[in-house]
Amino acid sequence: MDLNQELLNKREQAKAGGGKARIDRQHQGGKLTARERIELLLDENSFQEMGMFIEHRATSFGLDKSKIPGDGVITGYGKIHGRPVYVFSQDFTVLGGSLSETHAAKICKIMDLALKNGVPVIGLNDSGGARIQEGVVSLAGYADIFYRNTLASGVIPQISVIMGPCAGGAVYSPALTDFIFMVEDTSYMFVTGPNVVKTVTHEEVSSEDLGGAKTHAEKSGVNHFTYSNDVECLREVRKFMTYLPQNYGETAPTTKHTFSESKLEGIKSILPQNSTLPYDIRNVVDCIVDDNSFLEVQAEFAKNIVVGFARLDGRTIGIIANQPAAMAGVLDIDASRKGARFVRFCDCFNIPLLVLEDVPGFLPGTDQEWRGIISHGAKLLYAFSEATVPRITVITRKAYGGAFDVMNSKNIGADLNFAWPTAEIAVMGAKGAAEIIFKKEISEAEDSQAKWLEKEKEYADLFANPYRAAERGFVDDVILPEETRAKLIAAFESLENKAERLPQKKHGNIPL
Ligand code: HXC
Repeated sequence: MDLNQELLNKREQAKAGGGKARIDRQHQGGKLTARERIELLLDENSFQEMGMFIEHRATSFGLDKSKIPGDGVITGYGKIHGRPVYVFSQDFTVLGGSLSETHAAKICKIMDLALKNGVPVIGLNDSGGARIQEGVVSLAGYADIFYRNTLASGVIPQISVIMGPCAGGAVYSPALTDFIFMVEDTSYMFVTGPNVVKTVTHEEVSSEDLGGAKTHAEKSGVNHFTYSNDVECLREVRKFMTYLPQNYGETAPTTKHTFSESKLEGIKSILPQNSTLPYDIRNVVDCIVDDNSFLEVQAEFAKNIVVGFARLDGRTIGIIANQPAAMAGVLDIDASRKGARFVRFCDCFNIPLLVLEDVPGFLPGTDQEWRGIISHGAKLLYAFSEATVPRITVITRKAYGGAFDVMNSKNIGADLNFAWPTAEIAVMGAKGAAEIIFKKEISEAEDSQAKWLEKEKEYADLFANPYRAAERGFVDDVILPEETRAKLIAAFESLENKAERLPQKKHGNIPL
């Protein structure tokens, strides 16, 4: 046979994966094949495959008779919006996308290249887990991947897209990466599946309820982004990548942008007259950043803090904002963890931080205390304190108690802090403060209620404003809401060449 034809035949064989019937089954289940996914993820015709002819070496349980070139994972490199990425895509039609020794080695090979070359890795996961017939070698293969995930953490962005099953120890690779995308109804992640759960805890739960996209978006916070199908999900991964640099030594690309000037009018009336009423901080974000540029991360989890990427004058920034519309924007365990992880990602990859602050404090109660709000809250404090990227805070309204310190205060290293005229910066709210410091006067007064109100007003007049903090330099300027965008653009520009180093150490010890 013609040698070239032989090659073409081999390619065709590899591309056929587990065969038509299994591909049809994949499609019937609402899923694309591994190759179709790569086509949608990458720029047209940019994919370069590696390891197409790799086969497993196992012989037990008849495996020697079921060899399919590529061994259930397609690996290689290509481009997204013109920038290189390495990618692996598990092929569920080949032995359920299960991970063998050689399957793992293929993934490790592209991870090594990505790490050496400072290029992001995107993993499309759709696998029945460790290849059961192979035993310990497939477990070792997982460990090889986990190890590389950890080494690559903070060097290159690592993205996991869950597009089918991801169960058992397999979940720990995505968990070690920076962001997880999930597809509704077709993807799930859990350490032990419904059957084991039933045996051990006697709970009856479906795969979807135990570890579907919605569960992980709302309850566990493991899932950062949910999309309704493969096509939409992959399109959004492409968009997401435009916010990121290629590696820790680079900055994110700048883009063309627009800003509707009418938003400068709109921002004036977002805050309610009554400072105890809620408002949606995302409306403030929208009136500050470039048009349609805000990309919220973990939108369904710990809604009392909003985090996400946006662009300001075409440059990527990371936003961490208290959300008065959810639990009054109070900081609790989940919000602290969510905020801290996001801050650390941005700091890894040179993404400047903007904090919008309106926080009444930390959430009181036995539930929070017993589950360790002390350690979890400290994560956010630690993450901000060690971040060396440009850091700016805008206090829109409340900045009370320890939360004032935690939310990127000047004293933990923020570069510039601004406050709106509506800011209230104090140890605590006026009502509670008056009750404590004027306890005796209030209880001895003829009309205790009137006295309390009088003292509350006295405290509020003194502290429920930004000027005490401005007098002491804890905020650098008091600005009008409509001035915020221009002030921030100028401020971030002034911080562009910031070069701050932490004290030399092996690594810090964040309160995990
Ligand atoms: C080998 C596997 C496999 C596996 C599926 N297949 N999982 N082969 N090893 N782990 C094969 C099936 O035999 C079948 O082959 C094909 O893939 C499709 O599987 P189906 O069961 O027909 O598909 P479906 O009904 O969609 O169910 C998918 C599934 C189920 C829920 C994933 O296959 C399943 O429960 N698999 C086992 C999952 C598991 O327990 N894995 C080990 C987890 S422990 P044919 O030839 O019929 O197409 C683990 C440890 C990692 O992963 C530890 C790291 C530290």
